[in-house]
Amino acid sequence: MQFKRTLLAMLGLAMAAVAQAQGAWPSKPITLVVPFAAGGPTDVVARTLGAAMSKSLGQTVVVENKLGAGGTVAANYVAKAAPDGYTFFIHHNGMATAPALYRKLAFDPLKDFEYVSMAVDVPMTLLARKDFPAKNLQELVAYVKANADKINLANAGLGAVSQLCGMMLENAMGVKLTAVPFQGTAPAMNALLGGQVDILCDQTTQTIPQIKAGNVKFFGVTTKNRIKALPDAPTLHEQGLKDFEVIVWHGIYAPKGTPKGVIEKMNAAVRTALKDPDVMKRMADLGAEISADKQLSPEGLQSWLKAEIDKWGPVIKAGGKFAD
Ligand code: MLT
Repeated sequence: MQFKRTLLAMLGLAMAAVAQAQGAWPSKPITLVVPFAAGGPTDVVARTLGAAMSKSLGQTVVVENKLGAGGTVAANYVAKAAPDGYTFFIHHNGMATAPALYRKLAFDPLKDFEYVSMAVDVPMTLLARKDFPAKNLQELVAYVKANADKINLANAGLGAVSQLCGMMLENAMGVKLTAVPFQGTAPAMNALLGGQVDILCDQTTQTIPQIKAGNVKFFGVTTKNRIKALPDAPTLHEQGLKDFEVIVWHGIYAPKGTPKGVIEKMNAAVRTALKDPDVMKRMADLGAEISADKQLSPEGLQSWLKAEIDKWGPVIKAGGKFAD
């Protein structure tokens, strides 16, 4: 009898928590976890969206950077967080590549999350330190091939898009370079600016200001077509790296079990933020494009993620780069 009463009381408390999360949500600040360093490309997207979402939600969206293991530390943290509507996660292609890259992954991207929405697509750019001895892509490829053992390539760890892009460049050039991992491309960019690393493939959301200021050598964009934010910049594809393409997509997730009503309200807040004129201008200036309309739903993100896992799994397994 006592056991039954305790069970009923616990059930009542759980239902009250869910009802509160759905009814008055959000009644306190919301955390948006970013899996890479502050000031870097993912962080820029998160803070831009978070500021706009705070306006429509009436509560602050606090960005929290949880670093490590190419984004998997943060993904695991969010997968295990309370599904109370106050923890969300923004991640990019790394959510789809992690299952193939890591032998032991403590979370399942397809089982441990609720899906809120996709957000923006971001091109990447191939950069080298300012005094790198090459004026264009042809010279860079020739120099890299002749000096592969001396050249290092910065990235943000296994699972980062800078690592994926770097690996694809190595394959395209037929070379193996020394990887220098950082906990985000913000510190990787600092190392490039300081001349401590030679080459970095990184997102326009961080690189456009450095390219425009002339602080780095810039060799082209990773999209098939030229981009509006850098109209004079050639693509790597048009310069001879045939079919080279990397586009960085971003999804917003919540721990599995987050109430459906909360996910719907969060989805509406993301959509409102993406139509905010300040967000649209900042994103356009930084080369980011708002995701296609059909991807701005929980189902849109879920099916895109599944397709990307199916696409990258075999490519990564064939490439043979894994971590435990
Ligand atoms: C970052 O925010 O540092 C990047 O998204 C890391 C990467 O994936 O290259």
